[in-house]
Amino acid sequence: MFDHCKFNVRSRYMLLIDEEPEQISRRDMQHIIMRHHLHGNFNAPLEEELEEGIKVLELGCGSGRWIRDMAEDYPRSSFTGVDVTEVYPTSDIPVNCTFVNADVRKSLPFEDGEFDYVFQRFMVLSYTPEDWHAVTRELVRVTKPGGWLELFEQAATVERPPVSMTVWNAALAETKSRGIDVSYAWQIGNLLKAHGMSDVIEDYVSFPIGWGETIAEFHAYKIFLLYLAMEPTLAPALGVKHDEYVRLTEMFIDGLTENRSWFKAPYAYGRKPLNY
Ligand SMILES: C[S@@+](CC[C@H](N)C(=O)[O-])C[C@H]1O[C@@H](n2cnc3c(N)ncnc32)[C@H](O)[C@@H]1O
Repeated sequence: MFDHCKFNVRSRYMLLIDEEPEQISRRDMQHIIMRHHLHGNFNAPLEEELEEGIKVLELGCGSGRWIRDMAEDYPRSSFTGVDVTEVYPTSDIPVNCTFVNADVRKSLPFEDGEFDYVFQRFMVLSYTPEDWHAVTRELVRVTKPGGWLELFEQAATVERPPVSMTVWNAALAETKSRGIDVSYAWQIGNLLKAHGMSDVIEDYVSFPIGWGETIAEFHAYKIFLLYLAMEPTLAPALGVKHDEYVRLTEMFIDGLTENRSWFKAPYAYGRKPLNY
């Protein structure tokens, strides 16, 4: 399906890839894709401060790709990545990076106001509505008064959706059964305001999947791999065997291209008041 793909553009804020797609871990792919669409790695107005040197926390850092990119771009700043699973690197870590194993829903092992900038991305499938409030409270707690907190999500709606949405709908049903409300992707600005942040800015980026540009083909490939990884859960839920599951997944992915589908990724950032 993706034999014709070659991804080989590289610059600081552009799609990177001088490797074959198969050599990039699925965890890194989402980062690469979002960096391309955002023309950067973040939205909060912190470029100068990052250049000068500040303390940054990323919650749910996954493979640590955002942290490692940021650490390279801003060598005077220090970066801490937190994840509940140890999927982040444990060797060859840049000197200005630290990775910590913790569950934000319980509490973070940091002092109040320890970080100038706190960043969290793509957690909508991890939190119930109650979690969202507890987590936002905890992220605000570790943000310094005057510092910034940024939340970045992906909406769970396909614009101009494919005709065959069987695997997509099965994934949404599975998510709902675990108490997750994916509409929270659009609540992140309200969450920041509800937890006392000021100067809140909300917006979203939109991007095609599978058509129009090379990165969109790469994104379709990433979604294809994601659905293959979800087969142990979704195939039994759909009552289908491997071959039929793959066929349904291919119909969904091909349909994204045929219908020229696109997605939205909302983001919001706000400042912790000095008198918080
Ligand atoms: C979809 S990945 C996002 C990775 C990364 N933020 C990105 O933008 O590519 C979600 C990550 O959050 C982590 N995670 C989920 N629940 C968590 C929790 N309660 N505390 C800390 N990390 C959590 C998962 O282990 C996973 O690595």
